[in-house]
Amino acid sequence: MAIANSLWKHETVPMDDMTVNGVENPASASTTAELPEQFRQAMRRLIATVTIVTAGDEHGRAGMVATAVMSVSAEPPSLVIGVNRDAGVWRAITDTKRFTVNLLSTRHTPLVHPFAGQLQGEERFTLGEWHTHASLTPYLADAVVSLFCRVDASLDYGTHTLFVGAVEEIRMVDEAGEPLLWRDGSFANAVPLDELLG
Ligand SMILES: Cc1cc2nc3c(=O)[nH]c(=O)nc-3n(C[C@H](O)[C@H](O)[C@H](O)COP(=O)(O)O)c2cc1C
Repeated sequence: MAIANSLWKHETVPMDDMTVNGVENPASASTTAELPEQFRQAMRRLIATVTIVTAGDEHGRAGMVATAVMSVSAEPPSLVIGVNRDAGVWRAITDTKRFTVNLLSTRHTPLVHPFAGQLQGEERFTLGEWHTHASLTPYLADAVVSLFCRVDASLDYGTHTLFVGAVEEIRMVDEAGEPLLWRDGSFANAVPLDELLG
């Protein structure tokens, strides 16, 4: 069953109405035509942890690479994910009202492109060690962390749906390894500045 109504309301403010420190429309240097490409370039500078978001039930399972994952609150434990409505996992999340966020480590790089379109559907799960949770969502056995969520709210915006997940269970692996990051279109890992500077 599709989630018909968004639980949030949003308003958009015309750019012409915006002022920052009394300066009118600070973004006016970008023309409307340039803005989408500038936005893509800007987002390349937003470094993010690479995850695989999964969902499933007795009829099948779906998963895709996602970096649009954000903590919402600790009370209640909750997070939000951004999922394109064309993605296979969108249908699975919408139908089951559940999803799992699996945080990848640097040893999981071979899974990323297959789970971002190189392989399709069930074929993706031939890579990596996937188990099935009691809720029937798949999870990666050696993920840095797996967060098992129930969809508590959603908002359609543009091409994507933001799903708010109430976290019901968390699985953390002891020898998790280094978190895998996505930086400027490539893989990266995080090095503490203290280590770099000696
Ligand atoms: C590093 C990276 C991050 C991504 N993050 C997201 C994301 O947060 N949300 C999203 O909808 N797609 C994201 N994608 C794109 C999907 O993984 C990709 O379109 C995938 O093939 C969609 O699944 P489908 O083939 O089953 O439709 C990302 C891709 C990459 C390589």
